[in-house]
Amino acid sequence: MYRTTHWLAVVAPVLLVAGTVGVATRAVAAADDLQSRAQTAFKPLERPAPMAAVRVDLGRQLYHDPRLSKSGAISCASCHNLASGGVDNRETSLGHKAQVGGRNAPTTLNASVHLAQFWDGRAKDLTEQAKGPILNPGEMALPSEAEAVKVVRSVPGYQKAFKAAFPGSGVTYQNIAVAIADFEKTLVTPSRFDDYLRGRKDALSATEKKGLKTFMDKGCVTCHGGVGVGGSMYMKFGVVAPYKHQADEGRFAITKDPADKYVFKVPSLRNIQKTYPYFHDGKVWSLDEAVGIMGKTQLGLDLAADERAAIVAFLKSLDGELPVQALRLPELPVSGPDTPRPSL
Ligand code: HEC
Ligand code: HEC
Repeated sequence: MYRTTHWLAVVAPVLLVAGTVGVATRAVAAADDLQSRAQTAFKPLERPAPMAAVRVDLGRQLYHDPRLSKSGAISCASCHNLASGGVDNRETSLGHKAQVGGRNAPTTLNASVHLAQFWDGRAKDLTEQAKGPILNPGEMALPSEAEAVKVVRSVPGYQKAFKAAFPGSGVTYQNIAVAIADFEKTLVTPSRFDDYLRGRKDALSATEKKGLKTFMDKGCVTCHGGVGVGGSMYMKFGVVAPYKHQADEGRFAITKDPADKYVFKVPSLRNIQKTYPYFHDGKVWSLDEAVGIMGKTQLGLDLAADERAAIVAFLKSLDGELPVQALRLPELPVSGPDTPRPSL
């Protein structure tokens, strides 16, 4: 019932709106127009309001600092490489002592627009999320929050930077997470599609528009809509037909509600061309194949090759640009005499 309710909750208002505007002739013309339909279903991605540079710069350093891992070899950027779309392009990631994780690393780009973090939404926001990997024994593997604080405090340059960024509280585990999250909030990537949504009709090519139309006509937009082209709801992977690699039970592991079996956060499709391989298990390497699987599992449709190709062309228009400051590699402050040495 859970997913049925969600499905209707999404579809019903759309039908209702379509019905209401149908009364007015001018609105009928508008409803036929691809651009106005898109403007109703999606929202342009806005760059965030400027944040305190002392925090964002500190967060950028921490994001790239492998001293936040036991081995001294793994940083957030190891698995969320900003040079390659905020991912590691691996089926599942390599963590501490080359342990292989259970899920594909989603991108940190535009993560701030998601309703919650992780494939199963178990962290409510970026700050809560950032506290996880540092202590996860399979990822960065520091033994405790206290150890992470000790490492950061032992670096004189960080002592100073935290005093400036967090006057009063200085280095705390919470502040480490807040700084990283503030940096991540700058990883926003508007694209040509946003220009189109803002009114520039020629921002998309004819093929991309055909793909956008297919994406909306076939029903992809029901789940992948809004500012993130996804990221705003949970849905079962396998609404109509099961996913062939079905193993991970998704949100069920957290909620224990049988209705949440195989339910995942609907991912944002921004920069999707760069964030292969696809799905929570990273088992699908081709975007064309991923689109075909979505048609079958979520909509009960066998999409034709030209329909898939058009959708893929549209999806590529979601490749956006990071602000230059986000792509600049930070210089990390040098360790102090008491900084713990890397170990395995
Ligand atoms: C060893 C690889 C690895 C490291 C290191 C790592 N992550 Fe991740 N990250 C993952 C994986 C895998 C997931 C998905 C896990 C899940 O959903 O259960 C994830 C999920 C996320 C998400 C959620 C994105 C979304 O779409 O829901 C964010 C944000 C994130 N990581 C940021 C970070 C930050 C910040 C750090 C450093 C403090 C970090 N990660 C370190 C692999 C890694
Ligand atoms: C009923 C909701 C729903 C519909 C309809 C839907 N999707 Fe999805 N989509 C999801 C969910 C949930 C996932 C995450 C699946 C997973 O890996 O657990 C997903 C994942 C994806 C992915 C992989 C994203 C990634 O980061 O790995 C792509 C690409 C995608 N969808 C495209 C489409 C296209 C194209 C359509 C229309 C043909 C579509 N989706 C229709 C819910 C939906």
